[in-house]
Amino acid sequence: MTLRKDEFARRRRQLMRMIGKGGIAILPASTEKQRNNDVHYNYRPDSDFHYLTGFDEPESVAVLVPGRAQAEYILFVRDRDPLRETWDGRRAGTDGATSDYGADDAFPIGDIDDILPGLMEQCSRVYHTMGIHPEFDQHVIGWVNTLRGQAKQGMHTPQEFVALDHLLHDMRLYKSRTELKVMRRAAQISVGAHIRAMKATRPGMHEYEVMAELLHEFHRHDADIAYHPIVGGGANACTLHYHQNNAELCDGDLLLIDAGCEYRYYASDITRTFPVNGRFSPEQQAVYEVVLEAQEAAIASIRPGNHWNDPHDAAVRAITQGLVRIGLLKGRVPALIKSEAYRKFYMHRTGHWIGMDVHDVGDYKVGEEWRVLEPGMCMTVEPGIYIPAGTRGVPKRWWNIGVRIEDDVAVTADGNEILTAGLPRTPAEIEQLMCS
Ligand code: GLY
Ligand code: MN
Ligand code: MN
Repeated sequence: MTLRKDEFARRRRQLMRMIGKGGIAILPASTEKQRNNDVHYNYRPDSDFHYLTGFDEPESVAVLVPGRAQAEYILFVRDRDPLRETWDGRRAGTDGATSDYGADDAFPIGDIDDILPGLMEQCSRVYHTMGIHPEFDQHVIGWVNTLRGQAKQGMHTPQEFVALDHLLHDMRLYKSRTELKVMRRAAQISVGAHIRAMKATRPGMHEYEVMAELLHEFHRHDADIAYHPIVGGGANACTLHYHQNNAELCDGDLLLIDAGCEYRYYASDITRTFPVNGRFSPEQQAVYEVVLEAQEAAIASIRPGNHWNDPHDAAVRAITQGLVRIGLLKGRVPALIKSEAYRKFYMHRTGHWIGMDVHDVGDYKVGEEWRVLEPGMCMTVEPGIYIPAGTRGVPKRWWNIGVRIEDDVAVTADGNEILTAGLPRTPAEIEQLMCS
């Protein structure tokens, strides 16, 4: 399941309609990142660049000039190079950029300084995302200065710089049917990985052994991690961004796994918390049920017309009520919500947009108002309760319980769809899977 060429072409057309005649959009591919001596991280193009091009080679630049007669879509790419290709693999080259990736015209990246000022000269507005690739920003400024330097020869200089991300990120926020299909697949692979991890977990194993189960399942489906997994047992479940994943798993502890794969450039993001030995203790189950109620209340509030913050408000209400019920907060629920007393146990937000980036782009507010939910928007719903050892005012039997439950949800025309459905979520479902 891969996005077809016409999906990328449709996106470029849509962006060009918004930019209009007189505008030029310039997007660089991200650079390769060195890990340590002679070793690079696996190359993963910038999501904005890939969203519009489908092209996955570094040292590339995409240019869109709506209404330009000769060519509206121009790609600058690495030249073919038999010697380099022997080491690093095939390059598309300029021929491939036009024949396989839909560019109207393509040039070697080494020629960009000669060609781009000429393209900009015909335009009054430059659409570019400043600040993400600082070195590239310097090039853009350099090209503008080249034109300014030639003003006396009658060259025009674009007068306006416009933030491209504003338009592009709004497009990326609304997932098409094809994107939703890929996101469902990413979600499904991650669901399988979590099931595998739950089934494999035993007291005495190490967190990295459980991580290996997740990674195995991702890779055997041609997926990779969307972010470094969190596999935290016991006290580690209370560290929100725990990443060491090297401790032994103890009988009687909970294990929190926050892991999701990226499939065909789309992320999934799932958290499950379950007992290492397969059976919840009464305290673990009590906390778990509060988080589950919060997640269910949050998901129930996801539908077109509601606001971005409604799921968070619903989760906060349910968590506060639940903490009062189990005795960890004392007082009246409205007052505890107002004073944010719940933040002692629930200190993060209930979710984020998800798409090509796990924390996806898109504004959460429009002006002063929370964004109104519309079909095609995808978000995570991930309430949690964390009670590290030593939490003041909390009896010891509750210590080191950290619970988060996270699923990925798409807004649909009549409500929502849980993309990560099919993964045990209730204590009974989890115990049944682990003890079967
Ligand atoms: N895994 C990152 C997050 O849950 O936001
Ligand atoms: Mn997560
Ligand atoms: Mn998340």
